[in-house]
Amino acid sequence: MTLPPDRPVVLIAEELAPSALEVLADDYDVRHIDGTDRPALLAALTDASAVIVRSATQIDAEAVAAAPRLKVVARAGVGLDNVDVPAATARGVMVVNAPTSNIVSAAEQAVALLLSVARNTAAASAALKAGEWKRSKYTGVELSGKTVGVVGLGRIGVLFAQRMAAFGVRLVAYDPYIQPARAAALGVRLLGLDELLRESDFISIHLPKTPETVGLIGVRELALVKPGVRIINAARGGLIDEQALADAIADGRVAGAGIDVFAKEPCVASPLFAFDSVVATPHLGASTIEAQDKAGLAVARSVKLALDGEFVPDA
Ligand code: NAD
Ligand code: MLT
Repeated sequence: MTLPPDRPVVLIAEELAPSALEVLADDYDVRHIDGTDRPALLAALTDASAVIVRSATQIDAEAVAAAPRLKVVARAGVGLDNVDVPAATARGVMVVNAPTSNIVSAAEQAVALLLSVARNTAAASAALKAGEWKRSKYTGVELSGKTVGVVGLGRIGVLFAQRMAAFGVRLVAYDPYIQPARAAALGVRLLGLDELLRESDFISIHLPKTPETVGLIGVRELALVKPGVRIINAARGGLIDEQALADAIADGRVAGAGIDVFAKEPCVASPLFAFDSVVATPHLGASTIEAQDKAGLAVARSVKLALDGEFVPDA
């Protein structure tokens, strides 16, 4: 097939579901690069009308400036903390994401981490495979009757809370931006952050990464927690201070943690990796077939609309 010349270049800077690539293949010059290779990214952006990223590629002011033809930055997922939205907007570049594509997957990942931390599943599995049959060492705790604190009661926080309700827990949340009536309808009691820290047996973080939320759970907050609390973060690295969390685990105040995201990614060394009571995953919250299909298709359709000069509805 002869391809028409001068088709707009759509740069795919991270892995995208095949179904999404099919949407783009016929109309655009689709080019693949590794968005974490900064010189390659900046060079490839020179020709790009659209760039599609996940969370590892930084589309900052420098990247926007390197892309004179750029019309749209598409984030195949939720968090926009790796895109400088004001810099793009100032240049007239549209920024789109797929805000509901992976929320079920992210909520399920938080539940999976919480259960694994409560029952020592990962550590016991690793020990058994290494030839150790140790039952009492891996005694866990039940969820039933415990208090679960949700920090950030947005889309994912709500899905997480709804799933936790099935375990017979008491639900509390900290989110100054949601209406008490909405929380009450969900069976969730709203608290201040310090109260939530003092009352919760499990805490799960579901915040965006913003200047306000970075370091929200640090040394001061970890000194307030109920002894024996277990903490889950499948939102963003940097919301919890990793060293402060490791120190709180070392001194026994925090009994365990489930961590999907790290301040610096990829992360292959962390003070948290020293503990059997920490379950760590490499940013897998959205890594399901379903979420990747939904995210990829949503942004591919949005890119098409944006490059055609059409209205782009919320994906
Ligand atoms: P959302 O916008 O629907 O919800 C975020 C909630 O946080 C909102 O209710 C908001 O009021 C609250 N909030 C904002 N600032 C706050 C603050 N300072 N204090 C307390 N509450 C605050 O977003 P969402 O869809 O629930 O996603 C949350 C985050 O999860 C995303 O921004 C993304 O970073 C992360 N995420 C991670 C994965 C993963 O792969 N691990 C997948 C999807 C999303
Ligand atoms: C998101 O914000 O959507 C997640 O971090 C998932 C991802 O980027 O893969």
